[in-house]
Amino acid sequence: STLIKLAVIPGDGIGPEVVAEAVKVLEAATVADDVTFDATWFSLGAARFLETGDVLTDEDLTAIAGHDAILLGAVGGVPGDPRLADANIERGLLLKLRFSLDHYVNLRPSVLFPGVPSPLAAPGNVDFVVVREGTEGPYVGNGGAIRQGTAHEVANEVSVNTAFGVERVVRYAFAKAQARPRRHLTLVHKTNVLVFAGSLWQRIVIAVAAEYPDVTVDYLHVDAATIFLVSNPSRFDVIVTDNLFGDILTDLAAAISGGIGLAASGNINPEGRFPSMFEPVHGSAPDIAGKQLADPTAAILSVALLLEHLGQTDAAARVSAAVTADIVARAALGTPRSTSAVGDAIVTRLTDKGIQ
Ligand code: NAD
Ligand code: IPM
Ligand code: MN
Repeated sequence: STLIKLAVIPGDGIGPEVVAEAVKVLEAATVADDVTFDATWFSLGAARFLETGDVLTDEDLTAIAGHDAILLGAVGGVPGDPRLADANIERGLLLKLRFSLDHYVNLRPSVLFPGVPSPLAAPGNVDFVVVREGTEGPYVGNGGAIRQGTAHEVANEVSVNTAFGVERVVRYAFAKAQARPRRHLTLVHKTNVLVFAGSLWQRIVIAVAAEYPDVTVDYLHVDAATIFLVSNPSRFDVIVTDNLFGDILTDLAAAISGGIGLAASGNINPEGRFPSMFEPVHGSAPDIAGKQLADPTAAILSVALLLEHLGQTDAAARVSAAVTADIVARAALGTPRSTSAVGDAIVTRLTDKGIQ
């Protein structure tokens, strides 16, 4: 039997609600394979900060790093809450985890499941994955302000792109593209304006492409990419892009493929030197928190990515199949279900072979 040490960070708002369902599904999906999860629960986020003043202590980070994988719900309070102004939960917690654990691949698949309504009139076959760089770009905090608060204030936020950092994520994206049936990779950037970073990304993609003759490659400026995500999303297979472009494109990608309640993600350290972290793309949704209104599907699909990453491919496939079946069934249901009712329905499909 296999023992997997899992760090669970439910976080704030709907985070704990969707994580409860994801953990139920994780356990139901793995009993047949004799896999046991030893879960450590970490109380982190806006609620913890308001109680103790801590965002992420060194002890927290060391303890989390000692696990095999991390499941995170969502962190962050109500945007604009003055009590959180100095906390900077997003940088001090979420980004600190991604940077410290070297999650240089932020993997965000977009699939339009059968029966799911898309806001697009003719979505076609939506099945692509965004490989978003996770440790560099404008996210690194390489900035500063001078003459702050005056009419002469200057605020800089410098995007950092290293040859090492770009090459490793581009290599990951090519390997991913080669393993998919269509074997197509699109680099998205803004090389016409961001000439230094753009040139680096483009030269590295061209160089690595020579090692993958069976992968076709094209390039789009990020503004044009938003047009095609809406007008012709089936042209995409694997998109590789920088941290900020990837953040923006993946909310759009979620919106065209069934909504933010279905969008899963993995923050991956491919070499396994550090635990990878799996989380829904959405945030803590304070507007619907505590009411059992959140769709836990994104968190549950993140569990499928987690299982896949840990080599539990059969269990991952079972979760995906159960979610796909549930998504088809929910269209027929008509009435909305509570967060836990969705989790229970998926657990039932996993445990009751008659239904699956
Ligand atoms: P959000 O994703 O929390 O919410 C945007 C909208 O989507 C809201 O109307 C919300 O109700 C809806 N929504 C989100 N998830 C849903 C689900 N599972 N089911 C149904 N509806 C859902 O984005 P926001 O409002 O910009 O951010 C709220 C807080 O979350 C902020 O503090 C932000 O910084 C933080 N945040 C955290 C993460 C993370 O932890 N990974 C990601 C994004 C935002
Ligand atoms: C996401 C979120 C985060 C990001 C924020 C909360 C730091 O929007 O996971 O997409 O920008 O990466
Ligand atoms: Mn985002």
